[in-house]
Amino acid sequence: MRLIHSVAELREALAGQRETAFVPTMGNLHAGHVALAEIAARHGRPVVASIFVNPLQFGAGEDFDRYPRTLQADCAQLEAAGTDIVFAPDVHEMYPEPQTFSVEPPLAGELCGAHRPGHFQGVATVVLKLFNMVQPRYAVFGKKDYQQLFILKGLVRQFNLPIVMVEAETRRADDGLALSSRNGYLTAGERTEAPRLYRLLRAAADRIIAGERDFAAIEGETVHELTAHGWAADYVSVRGRATLLPPGPDEERFVMLAAARLGMTRLIDNIEC
Ligand code: PAJ
Repeated sequence: MRLIHSVAELREALAGQRETAFVPTMGNLHAGHVALAEIAARHGRPVVASIFVNPLQFGAGEDFDRYPRTLQADCAQLEAAGTDIVFAPDVHEMYPEPQTFSVEPPLAGELCGAHRPGHFQGVATVVLKLFNMVQPRYAVFGKKDYQQLFILKGLVRQFNLPIVMVEAETRRADDGLALSSRNGYLTAGERTEAPRLYRLLRAAADRIIAGERDFAAIEGETVHELTAHGWAADYVSVRGRATLLPPGPDEERFVMLAAARLGMTRLIDNIEC
């Protein structure tokens, strides 16, 4: 496995490759990320993983500074998962000019975007840059970040990028908590409480699957339960899967999404229903 820091060296290493499979990450990898690398290896070769903590997608007062940087351990995990190239540029390599273009995605002000202004602009911008650097045939993303995946599928469609988007199911701990780099911020007590988010979403999703359609009531009860157990909910929302907007009367495929803070840590999760 090669560790590459510059775009020039990356281009040289990938010259002529037409079946590259790509996994973008911010590092501090867990089993969910490793699964993406393994899925990538089943789609194409070489497998390229990027590790870049993207300042553009963090708001003021968010965790950019304390986001864990664990490059050595990440490389060991990626190598074991069959990755061929790790691309880890620094900020100056990614953003060499003081003024940067920015992609303005639809839905950037909804759900997580309503609570993290500029976040999805930052995500879409860096992913478009990474796609241009790596020029992959396949790109693998997790459903854990459902709105991100939805927006990036739109980016690929609307900018006519010749990339196949591969979707990976959310990896969870045995108690249901979605694996996340941010779980490391949780205290022992918070870690015990954290799976409630998944349990509540699961229970709510099951009601929708059973035919209930009073989404406002289901959302409100879920927020109430979270609040009663010490969480501060950013949102709990049932959306239509096709649009990620509030469901119309004929909608039949839903996704229930939530973001909530437990102490200092913001967790997100979702379930299709
Ligand atoms: P990061 O949070 O490191 O996630 C990288 C990829 O791993 C994303 O596609 C994410 O959905 C996936 N992932 C995270 N936790 C997962 C889990 N428990 N199960 C399955 N997949 C999981 O998402 C980002 O980085 C950044 O926004 C990025 C796309 C790299 C742009 O900076």
